[in-house]
Parts: sequence; C-alpha cells; structure tokens
Amino acid sequence: MPLAPAPRFMQIASPAGRSPADELAAGLLAARPSISPKFLYDRLGSALFCAITELPEYYPTRTEAAIFAAHATQMAQALHRRVPPGGTLIDLGAGDGAKAAGLFDAIGPARYLAVDISADFLRSALDALHRRFEAIEMIGVGLDFATRLALPDGLVQAPAVVFYPGSSIGNFAPADALRLLRQAREASQGGALLIGADLVKPPALLEAAYDDALGLTAAFNLNLLRHADRLLGSDFDLRDWRHVAFFDAAESRIEMHLEARRALSVRWPGGERDFAAGARIHTENSYKWTAESFEALLRDAGWHDVRRWVDSQGWFGVFAAVA
Ligand code: AVJ
Repeated sequence: MPLAPAPRFMQIASPAGRSPADELAAGLLAARPSISPKFLYDRLGSALFCAITELPEYYPTRTEAAIFAAHATQMAQALHRRVPPGGTLIDLGAGDGAKAAGLFDAIGPARYLAVDISADFLRSALDALHRRFEAIEMIGVGLDFATRLALPDGLVQAPAVVFYPGSSIGNFAPADALRLLRQAREASQGGALLIGADLVKPPALLEAAYDDALGLTAAFNLNLLRHADRLLGSDFDLRDWRHVAFFDAAESRIEMHLEARRALSVRWPGGERDFAAGARIHTENSYKWTAESFEALLRDAGWHDVRRWVDSQGWFGVFAAVA
C-alpha cells in the first residue's frame, strides 16, 4: 500500500456571510428566542457531549455502536454496490473521526474527507488517524454544512459514501433534513449513504435521555450561554437559567430550552433583550423518526434501495441507500 501524504485542511467560508455574533443576536431578538444547537459544541461543550454518551440514560451512541459492530460487513456490502473499495468517504460532523475509523477496514476508502464546522477541530484527530491508517488520504474540511452542504470541486473522487452517524440529522426539521439529504446525494456523485437515526419510543425513556439524573445534559445546555457570551460579548449569568427538556409528540421531537428563573435582561454590544420570569430560549430540537418515516424521507430525497438495521429494542436505526 502506498503511503498517503500528510493530512491537509481547508476552511470554507459560509456563503451567507453572516457572522456567529450576527446569527446569535438575531436569534435572541426573535419573537421566539432561540440559539442554534451548533453553538453547543465549544471545547467544553464537546467534552460534555462526550460525557453524555457514557450516561446510562443516553442510549443513542452505544445503541448505534452496537448496530455498527454487529452488521459492519453487511453495511459495507450495501455501500459497495455503488462505492467499491478505493472510493471516498465523506464524514459529516466527523469530530474525532472514531466512528468512521471503525468502518475503514470494512468500507476500504482511499480518501477520507472529514467535515466539521471548524477545520481546527479536525487537526489532531486526522493527524492521529493518519498514523494508524497510513494508506488513506485524509482531508479536513471546515464547513457549516447545516447551512449548505457543498464541497469544492475535485475534493470528492466519485463516487463517495456519505456517512452521517449519531442521529445528528435529528437536529433538522423534516423540510431541512430533506434539503440536507438531497445535498448529500449530490455530494456523493452517484454514491451511497450510511446514516443513523434515533427512533420514536416511550416519552419517559426519551425525556430521561435529555434530562439525566447527573445533570450533564443541563450543564451541556447551559454551557451554550458561555459560548454565546464569548462569540457575542453578551452577559448571560448561568445561575439565572434552568434546563428544560420534553418530548413533543405532535412534532415527534425532544425540545431543549433554557428558562429564565427570574425577570432579567441580557446585554451585548449593540443590543439587549428582556426576559420575563419563565421565558425560554429554544436551544435544540432532536427529531425522532419511525423506521418507515425515515425510509420515506430518504426516498423523498432521491436515495433508493434503502436497507436498515435496528437494535432488538427498536430504539435506533442505521440506514444504507444508494444515490
Ligand atoms: C448530537 C444531535 C445527536 O440530539 O441526541 C444530546 C445532541 N442533545 N443531548 C441528540 C444532544 C442533548 C444529540 N445529537
């Protein structure tokens, strides 16, 4: 096997040209205040999420990992229908790349495109992976794909597998999920998709997963305000806010909010907002699908020949499809 060159990195500016501070201010000033869940992941937020995945209540990560471990060969066969070994693997929200690395042997990519919001997050991960998988060319792409998934020409050696694990697709409302899955299909250039989605289950199980007894999810949610303070220059006092999470059955989603414990105002350079006691900032949606509704979504987005693997409790689904 020839040795791949050292990993390369690139940061792609978002086309909208709106800074994080502008986006945060607009969300805080809206009739229904909100902060995008992408701001949950600063350094501490990423560490807190990692800790959440170890909680007994937070089932998605370990359930998905067990599905990958049990069915990796079959999954690879489904993907190899369009992307034989030697293709490109596009990892959306790659983080430390550990999930993708677990499938390298089965999928056999020649090129690994790790995509995350900031190329800086990918540097140490790809440098470490490059030492373990010397034959795979690795490229770290900093891109806010939640806004639009469009990769620079020439980066994807067609066709490609798009890998989107962890049920991160759950952060998108159905219409936005459809748009992202269509863009993923374009990006694959006639390739294949491997994606994880969290499934509908009794609300008590869902609510425990998003409001755990240790309070890690509460800390994860509250930490968003510190991150906002750094990006926007706002003066949130975390002690004034409380974590709220509940399942909305009509929307089939967990909602997370931060609720003001008292009447207060928040100021930042160029703006301010008053909050009444009990007022909320909406911080995350996490949609839950049925296996059938998720397959229908994939087909609407233009993916076909969908295969699925679900754990024995029916809690989480992994889906493969071809473009
Ligand atoms: C990373 C978006 C899949 O929705 O379960 C975990 C984030 N939020 N606990 C999810 C999250 C609260 C997570 N995703």
